[in-house]
Amino acid sequence: MTEIKRVGVLGCGLMGSGIAQVAATAGYDTIVRDVSQEIWDRARAGIEKSLTKFVEKGKLAAANRDAALKRLTFTTATADLQGCDIVVEAVTEDLELKNALWKELDGRSGPMTIFASNTSSLTIAAMAAATRRGDRFVGLHFFNPVPLMPLVEVVRTVTTSEETFRRAFAFAQSLGKEPVAAQDNSGFIVNLLLVPYLLDAIRAVEHGVASVPDIDKAMQLGCGYPMGPLTLLDFVGLDTTYKIAEIMFTEYREQRYAPPPLLKRMVLAGLTGRKSGKGFYDYSADPPKVVDLGI
Ligand code: 3HC
Repeated sequence: MTEIKRVGVLGCGLMGSGIAQVAATAGYDTIVRDVSQEIWDRARAGIEKSLTKFVEKGKLAAANRDAALKRLTFTTATADLQGCDIVVEAVTEDLELKNALWKELDGRSGPMTIFASNTSSLTIAAMAAATRRGDRFVGLHFFNPVPLMPLVEVVRTVTTSEETFRRAFAFAQSLGKEPVAAQDNSGFIVNLLLVPYLLDAIRAVEHGVASVPDIDKAMQLGCGYPMGPLTLLDFVGLDTTYKIAEIMFTEYREQRYAPPPLLKRMVLAGLTGRKSGKGFYDYSADPPKVVDLGI
């Protein structure tokens, strides 16, 4: 198996910065591409904060934090990722945008370079088909917050070679993650089951089943979930969830993936969750306050 030494990450939002962090911590030289230095400055500050938390908890030596930070570089030029052995894409759920990046890199990358998408809901086939490396294309789906969540779904599409799948699986393990194998169905395993649950929680709010905090409390204390569904929606991002639901609804044409009207209204109003400071809860207060949605 060809060794992976240099990792490229496309996008440094919530997921991309987490992926870059775990790659650099695992010892890989990691180059991150996004559209502006400002985005990277924010991402890098988040990475440093997260690594420092691990140091404070005694889970990481300070020297290893510093070494990980040194392994991270940033660029706004996609072409700078051409020397990477694996490129993990974590940009927004927009197939055209993703495929434009893949096309730009395809001709420039080496013959053994693996392309891996962290898509939440698009099929890997829809991206692999835009390149000439369908056999070297996989899904590597991480979970938020990436530095803490152990799971990675390693997704094989119809064209993925056995060697690529094995290399990607081993790469996920080398990041200290627990990989599972999934087939290339929109939503893979986790989002196939999680997204209808989250959308149902919004429908429960719409129908006045219970208050926002009581729905959260019920699922936390009744099912042992670490976060209630509405807190989790704020955490993942309502805009992200809306895009995922739209894609899954288009794919399956099943009502359970249809984004509820309240979700759309909240996204339009800028209530996207923690990233904007407000979603189902207002995070400017400590502890966060329930937002009045007029229901
Ligand atoms: N880096 C380092 N440390 C972190 C961190 C990070 N990014 N985020 C949180 N922590 C630390 C906190 O500082 C805290 O430390 P402390 O114990 O010293 O205070 C510790 O982790 C625990 O955090 P909290 O006390 O804030 O809260 P929790 O105990 O609830 O743990 C959690 C946080 C791990 C996020 C937990 O709530 C959880 O597992 N939530 C569910 C997350 C989930 O379901 N994720 C999947 C979303 S779906 C997805 O990503 C797929 C996509 O396609 C949509």
